[in-house]
Amino acid sequence: MQEPHPTPAPHATPAPATPTTGPAASDLLDLLATTRAIRRLRPDPVTDDELATVLFAATRAPSGSNRQPGRFLVLRDGPRARRAKQLIGEGAQAGWAQKRTTDRYDEGSGTLADSPKARMARTMERFVDTFDQTPVVVLACLARYREPRPTDGASIYPACQNLLLAARAIGLGGVMSMWHVPVEAQLRALLDIPDEVAISATITLGRPEGRHGPVRRRPLHEVVHEEGWGLPAAWAVDPPGTAYTAAGPPTGHTSHPTGQNNPPAGQSDSPKGQVGAPAG
Ligand SMILES: Cc1cc2nc3c(=O)[nH]c(=O)nc-3n(C[C@H](O)[C@H](O)[C@H](O)COP(=O)(O)O)c2cc1C
Repeated sequence: MQEPHPTPAPHATPAPATPTTGPAASDLLDLLATTRAIRRLRPDPVTDDELATVLFAATRAPSGSNRQPGRFLVLRDGPRARRAKQLIGEGAQAGWAQKRTTDRYDEGSGTLADSPKARMARTMERFVDTFDQTPVVVLACLARYREPRPTDGASIYPACQNLLLAARAIGLGGVMSMWHVPVEAQLRALLDIPDEVAISATITLGRPEGRHGPVRRRPLHEVVHEEGWGLPAAWAVDPPGTAYTAAGPPTGHTSHPTGQNNPPAGQSDSPKGQVGAPAG
């Protein structure tokens, strides 16, 4: 039997024309290729409309069976929000202090004040020390309906990336982090987060301060295989003009205390024009 045609909801978003070429498509590709972690934010507030825009984009992301388990707890200026930001900031300071040692940020090129590694350390230091002044923090949560499974994150992290892409599209910036982890118990109590709701990410948002360097990612040919593991795909080439292709963790890297395995690459003060510049 043929399925009945679903009636659109009264406020359903109209189906957009899908551009496959032309300015809209290239704008989207540009947005995808240039959205990066923004940790230096101006103190200016984010408006309600801006928040609604980025959260709407977040909620357009896919989820398993379209169950839509994503929930977003926004922390701005209320008393509990301020306390929560303070708490997360304390967790971030402890987490970063540990990472600084584990990832040897103060060794090798880290001892040179102008090296990418040292600059990154300064950015991180400032990020965690001023975390409580972040204009907006969004706790991206996952409302569970069954026992946790390793793939559960796949129903919330696409929403996080949508949120960050939408933020960039309207002139905001931010970063997804795991800084809630060290203080999760206190946060849950403070914000009345039920046990069956997982806190999946802490996303900071605001207006970027200063200039931020380019996105640095491995070249396509290093990460794409075809037909079998390790086999090259001849067509897997970066678009013409792609620069700033760099690998991730510094030599001797272990793992991030908060679960992040790829240490943040250089921020605004990253050296310009260097291809293959290591993170540290
Ligand atoms: C799963 C995940 C966990 C992350 N955790 C943290 C974190 O705890 N703290 C932080 O400052 N950044 C965190 N980040 C941001 C990454 O460090 C950042 O996206 C990465 O280094 C690339 O940076 P770029 O976009 O500026 O090149 C995380 C990113 C992801 C995807």
